[in-house]
Amino acid sequence: MRVLVTGGAGYIGSHTLVELLALGHDVCVLDDFSNSSPVVIDRVHDLSNGRVILVEGDVRNDDTLKALMQDFRPEAVIHFAGLKAVGESMARPISYYDVNVNGTLRLLRAMDKVGCKKIIFSSSATVYGEPQYLPYDEAHPLNPTSVYGRTKMMSEQILADWAGSDGRAAILLRYFNPVGAHASARLGEHPDGPPNNLMPFIAQVAIGKRARLAVFGDDYDTPDGTGKRDYIHVVDLARAHVSALDYAVENNGSQAFNIGTGASLSVREMVAAFEAASGKTIPCEVTKRREGDIASMQADPSLANEKLGWTATHDLNDMAQSAWAWQSANPDGYSKS
Ligand code: NAD
Ligand code: UFG
Repeated sequence: MRVLVTGGAGYIGSHTLVELLALGHDVCVLDDFSNSSPVVIDRVHDLSNGRVILVEGDVRNDDTLKALMQDFRPEAVIHFAGLKAVGESMARPISYYDVNVNGTLRLLRAMDKVGCKKIIFSSSATVYGEPQYLPYDEAHPLNPTSVYGRTKMMSEQILADWAGSDGRAAILLRYFNPVGAHASARLGEHPDGPPNNLMPFIAQVAIGKRARLAVFGDDYDTPDGTGKRDYIHVVDLARAHVSALDYAVENNGSQAFNIGTGASLSVREMVAAFEAASGKTIPCEVTKRREGDIASMQADPSLANEKLGWTATHDLNDMAQSAWAWQSANPDGYSKS
């Protein structure tokens, strides 16, 4: 298939490119490199037999989209491009609505002009908000507590309305917590500045970039008092997109899927796994809770298991090992090819 991947140079996008190329898809990447580097594309090529067509540009630029759609004529789009930091979304709400919601709208309009009817969208478990029950299933009410979460919920609504007619399909993948890296240690997550997320922060402590991990509260109602999340290996997540593509071809309308393992792990369990994988001690200091954090999140992934034929296969050890291999081989991220 001809697949347009917006944000394909990013953390999740780059791992998905490798999977798509391995299956022989024709891939075009649209990325403005606002949170990534062209070096990522070189590395994807090193790891693959195929090559992607790269268009550097903003997903909100109508002229860029028009030219790309007319030249490449995608049969499907995987839409990763967006802003993703929860804290920053509260400080810069208009940027977040513009890139995430307006960007999605413009993309759909450009798709309509060339009759492209299938889209896979990067949504997030954060659309659910404070759990009314766990694990979350897809019928759990949506009540996001951040601007970021609201941009994802609004985009989902737009996509569902768009997919309501004419043989269109919108697959809304609600990711839980992606971690880990490609087995080659050539692709991984490289946050700009101090990491907001747990796994990259632990990895930077392990290589001595940061002195200690701040554990955001150990008085939650969880077995060890620290927050619990459903961590999912990024390669499993990448493969979910390939399964979702097949599903979108076969089905019309919109459908949301939880993409998680169905298990949840505490901050302390993540630290212990990383210590075992790296052989390093991770100094920790318990601090106060981070504002807006939820005690526990856990996916019910059974709908994705059943309808997409997709299941997570990597375990916690794979997540920690691959994150450590990536971090130790690339202490400065994508600084060189
Ligand atoms: P990322 O920042 O690594 O990748 C996003 C990519 O999009 C980057 O390459 C960036 O340069 C590009 N981009 C940003 N704005 C753009 C624009 N206006 N035009 C063109 N390109 C643009 O993020 P990621 O972790 O790979 O996440 C991908 C998607 O998944 C995002 O939509 C994110 O909100 C969503 N998501 C991520 C997580 C997570 O924890 N990583 C969890 C749930 C959902
Ligand atoms: N944590 C720490 N110290 C840190 C960072 C995190 O103790 O330095 C804890 C948090 O309190 C939480 C857990 O580690 O209990 C995971 O935190 P992350 O920031 O890694 O992940 P979140 O679940 O808060 O959020 C992430 C993404 C969101 C996305 C969500 C989906 O940042 O964009 O997963 O589940 F929406």
